[in-house]
Formats: sequence, C-alpha cells, structure tokens
Amino acid sequence: MLDKYGRNINYLRISITDRCNLRCKYCMPDGCESVPHDDILRYEEFLRLARIFASLGVEHVRVTGGEPLVRAGAVDFVRALKAVPGIRKVSMTTNGTLLARYGEALAEAGLDSVNISLDSTDPELAREISGSDGVVDSVRESLALMRELGVPAKLNAVLLADTAASLVPLARFAEEGVPVRFIELMPMGVGRFERGLDPDAALGILRGVWPDLSPAGLCIGSGPAHYYVSGSLAAPIGFIDAVSHRFCASCNRVRLTSRGYLKPCLCFEAGADLRALLRSGADDAELERAIALCVFNKPRQHCFDEPQEITEAHLMSQIGG
Ligand code: 5AD
Ligand code: SF4
Repeated sequence: MLDKYGRNINYLRISITDRCNLRCKYCMPDGCESVPHDDILRYEEFLRLARIFASLGVEHVRVTGGEPLVRAGAVDFVRALKAVPGIRKVSMTTNGTLLARYGEALAEAGLDSVNISLDSTDPELAREISGSDGVVDSVRESLALMRELGVPAKLNAVLLADTAASLVPLARFAEEGVPVRFIELMPMGVGRFERGLDPDAALGILRGVWPDLSPAGLCIGSGPAHYYVSGSLAAPIGFIDAVSHRFCASCNRVRLTSRGYLKPCLCFEAGADLRALLRSGADDAELERAIALCVFNKPRQHCFDEPQEITEAHLMSQIGG
C-alpha cells in the first residue's frame, strides 16, 4: 500500500487493549479511565480488518496494548493472525510481566519475536517508574525464557532524565546477545509532562564504557531504530529517536487502536473510524477503500518539534506506543 509520498506501508500495529497491569508514569497515569469493553473491537473484528490489511500489502503485524497479555485470548489471536494469508510476521510489544505465564503458548502459536519494555535495572527506580514491584526480575526471567523457547527478544527502554545511571546496566543485556533499544521520550499523552534524556547524551554515557561503539548500517525487523555495535557487545544497541532524528521519510507503519480507529501518524488525531464502518454493516470493499484512503493521506511527518500542533490527545496506552 503506497501513501501519497510513495512510502510503502506494510507494517500494522494493533493495540488489542488500552489496559495494563503497570502504571508507567509517562504512559498511563494512575486513575485514568479504561475504554468500555463494548467499545473495544472483538478479535473477530480485528481479524477481519487484518485480512483486508494483508490483502492490501501488510506483511507484519505487531500486537500491542496497553499490555496485550492482560486481554484474555491474546495467544489465540496471535495464532489466528499467523494464519492470515500474506501476514509473514507477527510480533508483540509487552512489559514482560506475563510472559512467564504465556511465553510458551505464544511460542507455540508462532509468535515471531517480542519486544520487552524495561526502563531501569534498578528495582527501586523501576518501581517508581512503573508503579509495580518485581518488574526487573520478571523481565530478566522473560528474556531467559524467550531465549530458551527460541523466540528472538529485544529490550526497549524509554530515555528518562532520572534513568541516566541505568543506561549502562540496561545496555549490558546486549553483552548477552539481546539487542537493546533506547527510545526517546515522545511528548504524547502524559509523556509531555515528563523529562526525557537526550539520545546523544545517552550515547555519550554508553561510549564511556564501550568507546568503540560505532554506527552500524543494520536494520533489524521493521523498525526505525538506528544501531551501534561494539566489539565487546554480542548484540547491537539501538536508538529510536523520533523527536530529534526524524525518520518519517522511511516510515512504513500505521496503527489500529483498540477502538478500531486507524491512525496513520502518532501525532495527529486524523484517521479512519473503522469500528463505525464495521458495526454499520460495511462490506469488505468499503472497508478496503476507507483503509486505502486513510493510508494514502498519511501525513508527511510528525510535529514533535512544534508540540502545540499535536492534535492527538489520547494516552499512549490507548494508541499502542
Ligand atoms: N514516549 C516514548 N515511548 C513511550 N512508550 C509509552 N509512552 C511513551 C512515550 N511518551 C513506550 C513504552 C513501551 C512502548 C509500548 O511504548 O515504554 O516500550
Ligand atoms: Fe503499561 Fe507499557 Fe504503558 Fe508501562 S509503558 S503503563 S507497561 S503500556
């Protein structure tokens, strides 16, 4: 599927729930309201849309949340997505806390890879950020389990002003062969009230320990990360710095929220209400037209450098990161 700037959109992120068992302070504040169950698409509805997206050229689907594994049936949904003709890869972004319970079933269902989020290896700081105890241990255990199961895993850490001392310990996961990606804090939802850490400053801190870190022309998965490698690290270190290094020109993705709203760009509220179409009896051809039009009109670029122009007011947990 091409947009009007010629970008090939072949990657769809589906947020299956806005709910989460954690409360990361930059994502989902305590006390925020959940979307009512009836407003969330049923799996059959997501699958119908996934088939249409696949027929239009989407090859990779990432299942996100909130935390996708808090929704019952997530494993079967992965299995069903894997069976959709044209979808070659199904991955998941998770906070890892429920992988001990579902990891094996996910591997068996055919999950191709998983991204696990952790912002600090310091248990106290991790609790302060996520609102929950034990996340560091559960991520370590999940990484070990996924390795045992042969499902490739990466670690995602959001760069926060107060986690500078965590960068080196987080990057050490790359010594064990886990790619680690540092994500620049985006001024979305409650993220705009947090203080982030500059990705270049983060790279400087890492170079204090791995002075040979150098840019690698690597591309792992469908992501916008740019990677650095070191002779002492078994896996690369990536940066996803959407704000300071705009990668919109090569963007290949759109997002489907748990409410069935198709978002062509993170920054903007404009999109297509596919749920309204689905539930008013639209046929596949109508859905296809709505999707293709929405994708065609994907904005050229985000506006993170002019935050007053951000029209998207939803929380990241409602969009799917
Ligand atoms: N900026 C950057 N990343 C964010 N995430 C959630 N909110 C933000 C934000 N404001 C990340 C999570 C997780 C993924 C789903 O999105 O940490 O890695
Ligand atoms: Fe949950 Fe991920 Fe948001 Fe944290 S960042 S509250 S783990 S959805």
